[in-house]
Amino acid sequence: MSGPLVRAAQLVDAPDIARVHVEAWRETYAELVDEAFATSFGRTDRLEQWMRVFSDASPADVFVAEVANEIVAFASAGPVAHRWPGFDSELYTLYVLRAFHGRGIGRALVAAAGMRLRQRGRPSTVVAVLRQNENARRFYERLGAREFGTYELNDEGRDLPHVMYGWKDLGSIEGQTTKRPE
Ligand SMILES: CC(C)(COP(=O)(O)OP(=O)(O)OC[C@H]1O[C@@H](n2cnc3c(N)ncnc32)[C@H](O)[C@@H]1OP(=O)(O)O)[C@@H](O)C(=O)NCCC(=O)NCCS
Repeated sequence: MSGPLVRAAQLVDAPDIARVHVEAWRETYAELVDEAFATSFGRTDRLEQWMRVFSDASPADVFVAEVANEIVAFASAGPVAHRWPGFDSELYTLYVLRAFHGRGIGRALVAAAGMRLRQRGRPSTVVAVLRQNENARRFYERLGAREFGTYELNDEGRDLPHVMYGWKDLGSIEGQTTKRPE
């Protein structure tokens, strides 16, 4: 089987990114939060969100990973959305469909985003992770991120505590890819 192709995304990819976003969100948050939260996330809204990212002069860089010509994962990153002293960029989103976990795709996407952020002069990066998302936390720790703070979010009465992780230079994880998909 061929390995994943990681490439910069463009407007034409928006429907596939929205599909992966909704599917991976549901796979992740039905277990970690609740079913209603997981299913409140609709495809139409996501498509609008991603069309906006590509249409406006959005500062976000978006990358997708393809396996057998199908988009199975994506990541986006850009200037830090909240002020975190000492950090100038943020990993906004990272989703890999569950069927493709553990093949090095998440790492490859973060590495691509990190290289781009470094090129843009924004090497120090934060990511906010739902506290109970242990898998993502272990993954970021494996990629060398350090926990440095917390961030409290409330969504329609739900407390969604987040843990902040940071890298001084996210571009430095490039080249550490060890796994190839079978
Ligand atoms: C978290 C996520 C992005 C990881 O992507 P992935 O493609 O499965 O991870 P990779 O295969 O690239 O793993 C990279 C390294 O992290 C390690 N890792 C990944 N998940 C791990 C876990 N749950 N526990 C311990 N280590 C883990 C891998 O073993 C690998 O280490 P190695 O290369 O030294 O062996 C993916 O599981 C995902 O999309 N989850 C659902 C959505 C989500 O939670 N997104 C993050 C929101 S902030």
